[in-house]
Amino acid sequence: MNQDKTPLFDAIMEFNERRPAYFRIPGHRFERGINQRWRDVVGDAIFQFDLTETPYTDDLHNAEGSIAEAQKLAAEVFHADQTFFLVNGTTCGNQAMVMTAALEGETVAIPRNAHKSALMGLIMSGAKPVYIMPQLHETWGLHGGIRPQDVKKLFQEHPDCKGLMVVSPTYYGVCSDIKGIAEVCHRHGAILMVDEAHGAHCYFSDQLPEGDLIQGADMVAQSIHKVTGSLTQSSMLHARFDRVDRSRLEGNLHLVQSTSPNYLLLTSLDMARHDLAMRGKELIANAVELAKYARDRINAIPGIRCAGRELIGTAGIDDLDETRLVISAADLGVEGFRLEQILFDEYNCDVELSDYKNVLAIVTFANVKEDIDRLVDALEDIARRFANGTPLEEGKPLPPQPPAFMTPRRAYFSASETVAWEEARGCISAEMIAPYPPGIPLIYPGERMTDEVWAFLDEYRRRGGHLQGPADPKLNTCRIIKE
Ligand SMILES: Cc1ncc(COP(=O)(O)O)c(C=O)c1O
Repeated sequence: MNQDKTPLFDAIMEFNERRPAYFRIPGHRFERGINQRWRDVVGDAIFQFDLTETPYTDDLHNAEGSIAEAQKLAAEVFHADQTFFLVNGTTCGNQAMVMTAALEGETVAIPRNAHKSALMGLIMSGAKPVYIMPQLHETWGLHGGIRPQDVKKLFQEHPDCKGLMVVSPTYYGVCSDIKGIAEVCHRHGAILMVDEAHGAHCYFSDQLPEGDLIQGADMVAQSIHKVTGSLTQSSMLHARFDRVDRSRLEGNLHLVQSTSPNYLLLTSLDMARHDLAMRGKELIANAVELAKYARDRINAIPGIRCAGRELIGTAGIDDLDETRLVISAADLGVEGFRLEQILFDEYNCDVELSDYKNVLAIVTFANVKEDIDRLVDALEDIARRFANGTPLEEGKPLPPQPPAFMTPRRAYFSASETVAWEEARGCISAEMIAPYPPGIPLIYPGERMTDEVWAFLDEYRRRGGHLQGPADPKLNTCRIIKE
């Protein structure tokens, strides 16, 4: 296919040249109805892309024209049988994948460190989850990979399992052996779904882990907006149809996507694909090179470390996306949470997330050397300031997985009540509770709040950690199932 084409962009340009008297939604009529203060800053052209299903602009839910062509071009680039554009992020891609892999009451395997959108998929589908725990990398205090032998064991224990989801690369750039896992899944007639939210750039560099679809995944969801050049909330779901039921997947995508998809987002996917297809190798090489420069400089700073390829072969880690900079000042006694704050407040460097030991900086093709120099110069200064610090104590290991009493769907739709946090100990949780980022749930709806989980969360909330999932994010109260 001619990857130099941009079908959706071209269709919108043609439509706008015609400039018809417009009586459809959206009501702002190109740019005329947009707040003037906003127009003065961003200009008018951008609003002319905010359209709907016109005779030129196709229909995401029944694509036959410019969107269908844009999706076909993307499918070729990402080695898929079919690509679906998503306007509600990989969040809705994960939901649709989980619902496609297993019906109500059927078993599906989800990694315990899955993004919360996998839980949403479980609630919608009524599938019965079995959880698979990734290895833990003790030194760095982060989750490693899932190994093919773990998956083999899972199928021995749950031979009726219809599908497995794996997150690879993770937020931290950690990759599992997807090729090996795909073989095990397919031998058991199960579908392999990969949450590749953080991995779209991997298809454009020999120096990065191989793309998951190339390695044998049946469906992958990618946040094109996270690592390449599309707008926030725009993602893609790629599928191979050897095992996946196409019409079920399409039906599920109707369920999770708006009937008014945003054409700015859709166009941004078309344009990001164009860039990746035409000069993706050169763009991503820039990210790889900048990250290498950063890692080398950071690892020369006394007391500060940046994780690298030495992690491969440990904790189930099969490969590593080196454009993720996992940086630790733990040897200087500086917690990741504090390091993130110091970097922002005192050095004007904004990193993606922090945990007890690390901060995570994401390097993309659009970063410039000056960004890296600012970050590394800041780290050098921080290392001097904290040179006499005492190394951090080891982080507390995560509590064991609590026992489940009902499916997430049944729990979600059961009668629940709000109790003081102190009273939640020992009760069945009605909500997912995940320290965020990176959003790994310690408890799912329908699981018992064990002493260990309660104590871990209690300490976390006292320290003011950010929690996702609970109705009360400060966790002064908690929702439990009425028993
Ligand atoms: C592993 C993972 N999966 C899925 C998502 C959701 O992606 P999106 O923000 O595109 O909806 C995220 C978001 O941070 C994520 O980290």
